[in-house]
Amino acid sequence: MAKKLFIQTYGCQMNVYDSARMADVLAADGYEPTAAAADADLVILNTCHIREKAAEKVYSTLGRLRRLRREARGRGRDMMIGVGGCVAQAEGEEMVRRAPVVDIVFGPQTYHRLPDMVVRARGGERVVETDLATRPKFDALGATPPAGAVTAFLSVQEGCDKFCTFCVVPYTRGTEYSRPAAQVLAEARALVRRGAREITLLGQNVNAYHGAAPEGDGVWSLTRLIGALAGIEGLDRVRYTTSHPRDMDAGLIAAHRDVPQLAPYLHLPVQSGSDRILAAMNRNYSTAEYLRIVDRLRAARPDIALSSDFIVGFPGETEEDFEATLALVRAVDFAAAYSFAYSARPGTPAAEASDQIPDAVKSARLQRLQDVLAASTRAFNAACVGRRLDVLFDKPGRHPGQAGGRSPYLQAVHVDCGDDAAARALVGSIRPVAITAASANSLTGTLVSGSAHPPHPRSAPAPESARSVPA
Ligand code: SAH
Ligand code: SF4
Ligand code: F3S
Repeated sequence: MAKKLFIQTYGCQMNVYDSARMADVLAADGYEPTAAAADADLVILNTCHIREKAAEKVYSTLGRLRRLRREARGRGRDMMIGVGGCVAQAEGEEMVRRAPVVDIVFGPQTYHRLPDMVVRARGGERVVETDLATRPKFDALGATPPAGAVTAFLSVQEGCDKFCTFCVVPYTRGTEYSRPAAQVLAEARALVRRGAREITLLGQNVNAYHGAAPEGDGVWSLTRLIGALAGIEGLDRVRYTTSHPRDMDAGLIAAHRDVPQLAPYLHLPVQSGSDRILAAMNRNYSTAEYLRIVDRLRAARPDIALSSDFIVGFPGETEEDFEATLALVRAVDFAAAYSFAYSARPGTPAAEASDQIPDAVKSARLQRLQDVLAASTRAFNAACVGRRLDVLFDKPGRHPGQAGGRSPYLQAVHVDCGDDAAARALVGSIRPVAITAASANSLTGTLVSGSAHPPHPRSAPAPESARSVPA
């Protein structure tokens, strides 16, 4: 009988990609997925260390797993428990001490060796693997991704050399590594053969991508890679995330004008609207530089939807700094955003700062920021009512007879199809939808024939002079 595998994923899209690859690696070893942890022979938590809350969740889940394992043993079955991802990397040996229920602790760059770790754990060893070299993993994984999804993630770059003073990622994922372009293209072709119509290229600093060229000894930029992906027959949409403003170069901005498959959406975290705070964060750009990038993007692709990440309550943030963030939000009109209260992370420089902000101040600022951001998203969605948007349908909707998909701007769109069979038949296709209603988080519409793409009303066409993108 096949052994059963349950994976719980926390954190970013990169972890989602990694979990799928873990399932892949273990499938070769006879494990098939189950939706219930209680039935599993192997439970894996793929963890996130980015904020304290995320990391602490792991230990409360391990407490529950300890009970499940005891019950499984009562029924004569064993359950092995592995913890992977960024908490595993950050804590290593410490984790087996703090949570003796864990059999295997493995960092993000080691999971290609899971079958071997499982064998060793079965032999009674407490396995801890926290090497940080990225290359062996991707070389071992090869280019056969998991099958079946209409939209797929593809990690092209991992790690980070930027060392923002608040962030654990350089310590949990290691230094920047870009996969060779040929490996990425092979994986993308395999995904498309298996039904993907949209691929999101992933990296902690995806626009710093510089992978070995398919031939010769040069390197490809992300722009070059996107150009090659656009040549894959059947791949209709390409997205990439997460980008750093510092690496948003003229070529990539121009790709938003020149490559039709490149979606008019960009997640470009700014973190703060105060130059003083940006400098203390070691972000290496000013608000003026960020706004200039936004202008150039909108000149290249007038309807581009922008999203961002924000941290409030970074050490030393004054009311004036915070108001500068609100001003930047009002100036940019983001289509979507994620905002967080600063969380001091062990080992990062900002955690040592003496001017930490009280929790009550952080929560109050976060609430004020989120109110402004939510209004911005609502306005963006509302401006879509009355437009036709091409929707890539990727799943049946929540209600009977409904199909769900994504607009080019990454908004969730629901359409009533009459019955479930019609809804299922839509999955995998891109169809024009007349948008009839908008809410804070999604759009509703009806299928229409033909295709039309009037630009988003928020963005007036760029003046001729702004159409070529200066460096
Ligand atoms: N590489 C991306 C971000 C990866 S982490 C970038 O450079 O933008 C995702 C988001 O988590 C960050 O953009 C930041 O907004 C948030 N974040 C990271 N560390 C944090 C911390 N210590 N406290 C609160 N939020 C944090
Ligand atoms: Fe973290 Fe900064 Fe690197 Fe992003 S760029 S992963 S925020 S250190
Ligand atoms: Fe979290 Fe690691 Fe991603 S810390 S955000 S899972 S890179």
